[in-house]
Amino acid sequence: MCGIVGYVGRSEAAPILLDGLRRLEYRGYDSAGIAVVDGDRVETRKCAGRIVSLAKLVSAQPAAGSSGISHTRWATHGKVNDENAHPHFDARGKIALVHNGVIENYQALKKQLIQNGDTNFRSDTDTEVLAHLIGSIYDGAVAAIGDRGQPGSATPATTSQNSKARLVNAVRAALKQVIGTYGIALVHADIPDFMVGARRGSPLVLGVGKEENFLASDVSAIVAHTRDAIYLNDFDVVAVERDKFEISSLDGAAGHHAVSKVEFSTEDIKKGEYAHYMLKEIFEQPDSVRDAMRGRLTYEECTAKLGGLNMTPAELRDVSRIVLTGCGTALHAAMVGEYLIEQLANLPTEVEFASEFRHRNTPLTRDTLVFAISQSGETADTLGALRESRRKGHRTLGICNNVASTIARESDGGVYMHAGPEIGVAATKSFTSQLVILTLIGLLLGRMRNLSAAQGSRIIAALEALPGQIEEVLKLSNQIKEIAKKYADVSGMLFFGRQFNFPIALEGALKMKEITYLFAEGHPSAELKHGIIALVRPDLPSVFIAPDDTVFSKNVNNTEQVKARKGPIIAITSGNGAKQLKGLANDIIEIPAVLEPVSPVLTVVPLQLFAYHLAVELGRDVDKPRNLAKSVTVE
Ligand code: G6P
Repeated sequence: MCGIVGYVGRSEAAPILLDGLRRLEYRGYDSAGIAVVDGDRVETRKCAGRIVSLAKLVSAQPAAGSSGISHTRWATHGKVNDENAHPHFDARGKIALVHNGVIENYQALKKQLIQNGDTNFRSDTDTEVLAHLIGSIYDGAVAAIGDRGQPGSATPATTSQNSKARLVNAVRAALKQVIGTYGIALVHADIPDFMVGARRGSPLVLGVGKEENFLASDVSAIVAHTRDAIYLNDFDVVAVERDKFEISSLDGAAGHHAVSKVEFSTEDIKKGEYAHYMLKEIFEQPDSVRDAMRGRLTYEECTAKLGGLNMTPAELRDVSRIVLTGCGTALHAAMVGEYLIEQLANLPTEVEFASEFRHRNTPLTRDTLVFAISQSGETADTLGALRESRRKGHRTLGICNNVASTIARESDGGVYMHAGPEIGVAATKSFTSQLVILTLIGLLLGRMRNLSAAQGSRIIAALEALPGQIEEVLKLSNQIKEIAKKYADVSGMLFFGRQFNFPIALEGALKMKEITYLFAEGHPSAELKHGIIALVRPDLPSVFIAPDDTVFSKNVNNTEQVKARKGPIIAITSGNGAKQLKGLANDIIEIPAVLEPVSPVLTVVPLQLFAYHLAVELGRDVDKPRNLAKSVTVE
């Protein structure tokens, strides 16, 4: 949700910033801009639209300089136009600032600035108010103390050190007045080769290079230049120069942060032979699913090994209840997780929308274990739920993909997905990895309770078969593409499933909505009769997720009900299912037979492909769908 890149070094900043923004475009793509410090001026280029438009602008009017900041926006305050694009400036046009987050009290701050005579606002954004506030504090400090002193009283070097310290102090003082969230980067026209960053609630990472340093919303923006990263914490302020940086708190106390090695390289974030990241990530699932379980299964004991939970067997044995929380696709994984953990471990499990959980008083027992599930590890609502749960004293674990993300760092332990970078806005491989991890958790807790060794080893065998089975499903891509073409003119789509595959109906509908913009809804199959059936008509197909399992015949009953009302039917099935659905379903997609609890890992793949091919057929921008952003760091 908005991407930031900053650079101070010896190279030209603009190409580095633009390249970094391209890697962050999944975070938002309403508008983009850069500001480069050139001598004693800040050169800015910004426009509504995508990075490609900004790149054209920069090539028509180059911006020279070896330090600068940049931004790709997902609009929160103010409509999408050139003026509201970042960077924003202070009243004197000296400070350029980019921001990810929401300044909740910006109107009160703006009123105060206007009362003090500052009326030079050019945009409707909350960000511009912060730039003005920092500028007014900095200018006030410079005017009060004097930056140059008497002739001969200070060397240029100390003068410049003073300016840097004053700017950092002004940032601190301004941020203390801010209510809300921010990840910011800023430069000052009079202080070249220097930038300041700060974060609260929105991610910011410092990339440490050789005679060059970077700031970015996530490491994918800078991994082409350095794999040494420092993940900043909330209330950190960082002063960045070419060959040094200084991290401190909002109160000015020095901070000490370890340098982490980024695990992936630029190769991992390239599209390669695929037309879209989403397709690449769908096809990566045999590997990502394998990586999610690698080293985590013990055959002797027929259970899972999850050392990152940081819990002793006795502590795990004492858990009396589980809460799974997340947003979007991660929430759907949680819903499968509820069925899984209750079936495998017989432990009461509940799913909570992170956005609801964080604001309500869910009654929890002392021994409730809370899992926050998030690919990015930065989703504001999931982070809020995690903090609320920890505040109440519950042990809270993370299931994240992004290593060292805020959720991963703030939880008491957890399980990494190891799915590799997911760039397509619509989540795919992270979902199947989440399902595998939730199965491992169910297996581990189950084997401490009621699950026999034989049952445990059946789960392990089913998990191990999944990568090969996903490969089989991926071979159906062309068949699914043909089916998608047939349905390109429909007015919408309904998705139905039962038990473990009810959440998959929700996920299939979500994928369809996200990237085709078609109206789509998911429901438990049996709910059809309770209202939804009124929608059934020839131009509204129903997708039934009906593998050959314990509820197959019930699903068949529901397809009959749709068929009787002339609704087209697309069925995803396995085993003997196809035989029985022949004549009932207009199109049948056959997947390999799979053990019921892990079947969602397979059934979701054709739905990902279906949404993908239909979106391509409709000419949609698959990797950057309308109005969406991958990582939602605002509430
Ligand atoms: C956004 C994305 C979804 C994603 C959700 C949660 O809405 O568009 O694809 O499922 O955020 O993201 P997380 O990173 O927390 O899994």
